[in-house]
Amino acid sequence: MDSLSIRGGVPLRGEVQISGAKNAVLPIMAATLLTDEPCVIRHVPNLSDVRFMGQILESLGAKVEFEKDVLRVHAKKIQGAGDYDLIRKMRGSICILGPLLGRLRQAKVSLPGGCVIGARPVDLHLKGMEALGTKVTVQNGYVTAKAPKLAGSEVFLGGRAGPTVLGTANVMMAAALADGITVIESAACEPEVIDLADFLNSMGARITGAGSPTVQIAGVSRLHGAEHEVIPDRIEAATFAIAAAATGGEVTLRGARPDHLSAVFDKLSESNVRVERKGRIVTVKRGGKLRPIDVTTLPYSGFPTDVQAQMMVLMCLTSGISIITERVFESRFMHVSELARLGADISIEGPSAIVKGGRPLSGAPVMASDLRASAALVIAGLAASGTTVVNRVYHIDRGYEQIDEKLRKLGARIERIKET
Ligand code: EPZ
Repeated sequence: MDSLSIRGGVPLRGEVQISGAKNAVLPIMAATLLTDEPCVIRHVPNLSDVRFMGQILESLGAKVEFEKDVLRVHAKKIQGAGDYDLIRKMRGSICILGPLLGRLRQAKVSLPGGCVIGARPVDLHLKGMEALGTKVTVQNGYVTAKAPKLAGSEVFLGGRAGPTVLGTANVMMAAALADGITVIESAACEPEVIDLADFLNSMGARITGAGSPTVQIAGVSRLHGAEHEVIPDRIEAATFAIAAAATGGEVTLRGARPDHLSAVFDKLSESNVRVERKGRIVTVKRGGKLRPIDVTTLPYSGFPTDVQAQMMVLMCLTSGISIITERVFESRFMHVSELARLGADISIEGPSAIVKGGRPLSGAPVMASDLRASAALVIAGLAASGTTVVNRVYHIDRGYEQIDEKLRKLGARIERIKET
């Protein structure tokens, strides 16, 4: 397994190009299963999760071709059961359930299973499918779904932690080819849900209200092929913005959507980080002494849970007491113990982490645990004195395109150590 060796202490300076959004492209790739015509997706990030989803589509019978950041998928003829070893390995693959039901009226997918950030249940996905008339059975780690016919209906998709992003995606995709009207109440409002709806509508679907808590889908008899450009990755942009602030540098984010980052920029400004916007170009730099802040992660447009770990690093560098409360996932503080190896002083009280910031961080070997925690450890290594080695970097390669190259271009002293 590769690792990243970082010699910290260099302020990041320059421009970084933001890639296409992982969490938009995965459901959009699944949506290509809804038509027997070819689709072209542009601005596709080169990530292991994306290549994985491509393999899953191929295991279902689709033709998949990647050429730089352009993906061509032709699901001319597909089957309802894929390669379970593949499907089980990536939680995001649950979003093939809706399209398989929409296209074939049947599906068999493996349960995503839990991960380091929480149990990752799919009860709301199944509730949505059943509301459309699907018979769902869960057995031996698989979900088997059959729907002689899909009929539109009203469904409330709010769970104990608020809306579900991929659950909303699944219901939108199945409902697109159902008979009649489906209304999703408590739908997820993330930009990635809007991007999926835009793609589905370009295929001939009739979806309104995406991005609001109430989404209406008027089913149609068939969908045709389409072309689509994926929105930029707001989580990658937030990660680089925080890395700029954490190293005391100045970084311009090219190709980001500042309107997708209001909560993050609001909290960065509150901590005395300067966020300057010129149209869609955003430059981030320290504005002087960092100020301690309180952050709570919430469904969009609240502060994103996928930026919680990265923000915690900035708090470690801020003199005073900061508090970060995780309201979306039940256990997303795996990075805390690793940050402590670098000298951070953080205590966990239930859903909150109390950060006593201001002590300088010093480099050490650390272990990546999940995608965003790994990104946080990289930021901490960039800000720490000495050398930090982040092991199990495959976690990072799932969701960040060439993160070491992009950071090197900004002046970071970071090397990828290939496992021999
Ligand atoms: C998506 O996951 C993202 N992944 C996650 O990003 C992101 O953290 C999450 O949305 C929240 O924004 C992709 O889009 C591929 P949820 P998703 O269903 O859809 C509970 C990253 O780092 N819930 O919105 O799986 C769930 O346990 C990843 O890029 C149920 O209770 O998340 C959680 O507490 C990590 N029942 C909350 O809802 C369900 O049926 C939000 O989960 C489904 C979810």
